[in-house]
Amino acid sequence: MSTAQRIDGKAFAEGLRQRVGSEVQRLKADHGVTPGLAVVLVGEDPASSVYVRNKAKQTEEAGMNSMEHRLPEDTPEADLLDLIDTLNNDPAVHGILVQLPLPGQIDDQKVLAAIDVEKDVDGFHVENVGRLWTGGEALVPCTPYGCLLMLKDHLGELSGKRAVIVGRSNIVGKPMAALLLAESCTVSICHSRTQDLPARCREADILVAAVGRPEMIRGDWVKPGAVVIDVGINRIDAPEKGEGKTRLVGDVAYDEAAETAAAITPVPGGVGPMTIACLLRNTVVAAARQNGLPDPGI
Ligand code: GUN
Repeated sequence: MSTAQRIDGKAFAEGLRQRVGSEVQRLKADHGVTPGLAVVLVGEDPASSVYVRNKAKQTEEAGMNSMEHRLPEDTPEADLLDLIDTLNNDPAVHGILVQLPLPGQIDDQKVLAAIDVEKDVDGFHVENVGRLWTGGEALVPCTPYGCLLMLKDHLGELSGKRAVIVGRSNIVGKPMAALLLAESCTVSICHSRTQDLPARCREADILVAAVGRPEMIRGDWVKPGAVVIDVGINRIDAPEKGEGKTRLVGDVAYDEAAETAAAITPVPGGVGPMTIACLLRNTVVAAARQNGLPDPGI
């Protein structure tokens, strides 16, 4: 029997989008500023195409300007860098997001480094990474920031908690560690070479799974009363639903973990919806900063 509270990321994201929308109205009415987000997609990757469409729709629903740039798969790196230069110098653009992955002829790191640090709403520029780790005024990667908001909402004070993150990516694992460290958690980052991973996970008051391996984290890896945040989105075969059918699962075996955890995010409907909501939030923060205004409290 499941005892854990199911953390409803969809509802939480909806609340955040409402707060972003109110802040957008305030920026427009009081300062004549309409936050603008430019999203760049190179190529035709179907998953990326869906993300980009959702981003544009939610940006407009929040009252902001959405600028979409779709470039062909064989776009030379120099052309993409030229576009970024144009967007960097456009005062109507407050946030720039280049959808990853990029085609092979383009160097991701070179592209991310070319984005104006103050417009880097993904928080992937090395200067934003440095600011995050040193306590500066960073733009913070959206997915880990969304996880932090849900953890704070659920637990209140995080100080002194034992946090274990499984996964060491630049997009989730590492920035998640920086954010939890800044909240005075005791943080471990575990990965494929970690010895006795189940035992490390069992130490965690806060367990964040971001490895991309379907249902890898089992119920008996979870400390009783832990809060579990599952960042994984994995599509697996679901023959029980019929031939050729699939379903989405996280990195955590939900039903097992829900018997031990105090609270857990489901997949889908947990962390996923928070990412775009945080992107909108970062765009509003970037627009305020670029106009010399104080950070909105969202
Ligand atoms: N591709 C998948 N997720 C993301 C994201 O959060 N940002 C960017 N830029 N690309 C992605």
